[in-house]
Amino acid sequence: MASATFFILSLLFLHITLALANITINSTLYTNNNNNAWPSPSGEFAFGFHQLKDTNLFMVAIWYNKIPEKTIVWNSYSHSNPTPTGSKIQLTQSGLKLTTPNGESTWIAQTNNTVSYGSMLDNGNFVLASSDNNNNTLVWQSFKNRYFVAKPNS
Ligand SMILES: *[C@@H]1O[C@H](CO)[C@@H](O)[C@H](O)[C@H]1NC(C)=O
Ligand SMILES: *[C@@H]1O[C@H](CO)[C@@H](O)[C@H](O)[C@H]1NC(C)=O
Ligand SMILES: *[C@@H]1O[C@H](CO)[C@@H](O)[C@H](O)[C@H]1NC(C)=O
Ligand SMILES: *[C@@H]1O[C@H](CO)[C@@H](O)[C@H](O)[C@H]1NC(C)=O
Repeated sequence: MASATFFILSLLFLHITLALANITINSTLYTNNNNNAWPSPSGEFAFGFHQLKDTNLFMVAIWYNKIPEKTIVWNSYSHSNPTPTGSKIQLTQSGLKLTTPNGESTWIAQTNNTVSYGSMLDNGNFVLASSDNNNNTLVWQSFKNRYFVAKPNS
């Protein structure tokens, strides 16, 4: 009985872990609510909007999420080019798109492959996978892309 319960709890836990690990297409982060970051499965790292102290400005960043002073390990924009309250980040089939409150969009990550999911990994790498060729190849990763900003076509 106890082991059956443990087994079922393990399955539930596994299911929750998997659900948290993959970020699905059209998932969106906002600056102004609780949905402002995607944590890694262990919670060690998070990707999202990092508010600059005493401002209404945010950096698109990855930070250590378990320590009180959230230390940034990666950022897409320089400190001089943060984005204001009301911005959003959406995972699309072409990559990660940042849209400001006045409707201007830039790509944080862009690929010509079709993105199948994104994932904030426990090693601090944020990755986008593509199911083109049915092989879930990583088509973008933060480890290899710093300060990359390009204008989206649409
Ligand atoms: C993420 O999704 C892909 C494609 O559906 C799947 O193969 C993979 O196992 C998933 N990974 C996790 C950690 O959930
Ligand atoms: C994402 O949103 C677009 C536009 O609303 C929609 O056409 C598409 O089916 C959505 N994709 C998924 C996987 O939900
Ligand atoms: C996508 O394809 C176009 C046209 O081939 C190319 O100019 C562009 O650099 C590609 N973008 C990426 C992110 O690979
Ligand atoms: C997986 O997909 C990528 C991207 O389309 C491709 O370059 C690569 O050759 C594929 N790998 C295998 C083993 O099919």
